[in-house]
Amino acid sequence: MADHETNLKQLDANTILHPSTNANEFAKTGSRIMQSGSGITLQDTDGNTLIDAVAGLWCVNVGYGRKELADAMHAAASNMGYYHTFTGMSNVPQIELAERLLTLAPNNMSKVFFASGGSDGNDSLMKIVWYYHNLIGKPQKRKIISRWQAYHGTSIATASLTGLPSFHKDFNLPIDGVLHAESPDYFRHALEGETEHEFSVRRAKELEELILQHGADTVGAFIAEPVMGAGGVITPPEGYFAEIQKITKKYDILFIADEVVCGYGRLGKWFGSEIYGIEPDMITTAKALTSGYFPFSASFITEQIWDVIKQGSAKYGSFAHGYTYAGHPVGAAVAMANLDIIEQDGLVDQSAEVGAYFHQQLNARFAKDHFVGQVRGHGMLAAVQLMQDSDSKTFFDAATKIAPQVTVECYRNGLIARPLPSVDSVAFSPPLITSKSDVDTIIDRFEKSVRTVIAKQ
Ligand SMILES: Cc1ncc(COP(=O)(O)O)c(C=O)c1O
Repeated sequence: MADHETNLKQLDANTILHPSTNANEFAKTGSRIMQSGSGITLQDTDGNTLIDAVAGLWCVNVGYGRKELADAMHAAASNMGYYHTFTGMSNVPQIELAERLLTLAPNNMSKVFFASGGSDGNDSLMKIVWYYHNLIGKPQKRKIISRWQAYHGTSIATASLTGLPSFHKDFNLPIDGVLHAESPDYFRHALEGETEHEFSVRRAKELEELILQHGADTVGAFIAEPVMGAGGVITPPEGYFAEIQKITKKYDILFIADEVVCGYGRLGKWFGSEIYGIEPDMITTAKALTSGYFPFSASFITEQIWDVIKQGSAKYGSFAHGYTYAGHPVGAAVAMANLDIIEQDGLVDQSAEVGAYFHQQLNARFAKDHFVGQVRGHGMLAAVQLMQDSDSKTFFDAATKIAPQVTVECYRNGLIARPLPSVDSVAFSPPLITSKSDVDTIIDRFEKSVRTVIAKQ
């Protein structure tokens, strides 16, 4: 390794508090520094060339090094660079983007609120839930129900919504007023002999019990990812959202669809809500909106909620919420160019077709292996459940850390895959430009890696 790279790693370890990184282990292993990328491939500073089968953090949907996005960014930055959108100020790219997004978004959304990422998108919707219920004279309807295994961000409010205990411990979270319903993970939580549909009915019944236990007049919203991402790539079991929505509608509870991972084609449709029959009152999107090239999120609300926000302005003067970078003209221009690529290259349909192939091949490749308990996901989102023995449904001991072991080996074999240690699974969410032959290479490299690690157990 060149001195420069050694110095960079040292400097990194000495200077940066890395998100979601073990502070002790990282100091020993050092960072992996990415220096360039093109298509689905990245180069690190150690000279490795890697297929990124995760698309960064499930976001680089049009692939790395896209000149179209760089050009859009350059043009918008040269033209003006920045102007805020507070107090009725605006810019051309955000207006064009809003119009385009509202035609794409499911369930007749009326207005879009721009921010910089998934956490502040969800955070904003949480505040709007409170604002809405206060304004309609139901101030006590302020509790928000999320689900165990969910991931909704890491701000104080959204880490509370996140249903992964490691995001709560010693952070004094979750905050009051956030409740967690049981997770939709059929594989882990189904009772002996219970069908998927029976499981969904049970989960809806449990949700109703939770609501009644806390008082239906105190619950304002329910939030869910169409397919859970970081919590395990958990697809909803059959009938799940239909059953859940019977309950949310019955008790007048707003439904927030967190499409931060699923939105913009990842599942083979523009939005996950379309696949699972979700009729949200509010939606958060981020990540793939700009393919990660610019921090940008778009959250949507229905006309009914917009009407109430107008009542708020009649009462208070202004909707007193927003961020310096909301509707950033450079981000909006990048989003427009990114949507152009998705549409012109037919990436949503490609995601459906290549995604189906990906799942079929993963299933076929490990059909006889006892160390694979399940291949989950939809479209270009997949996870492989690793197990000590799938026949007897024996999980690995947690201390084995099987998923990180496998992904470290994948890296050695030129593949970035994502470990989901809390569920012993390895996740994939490749860029949507990934071809079937790329999928073959991804699975070859994964297979080689996983067999090497399993042979050592
Ligand atoms: C479903 C979901 N919601 C929200 C977030 C938070 O987004 P951000 O990291 O941009 O704040 C994430 C991030 O991975 C996510 O997966």
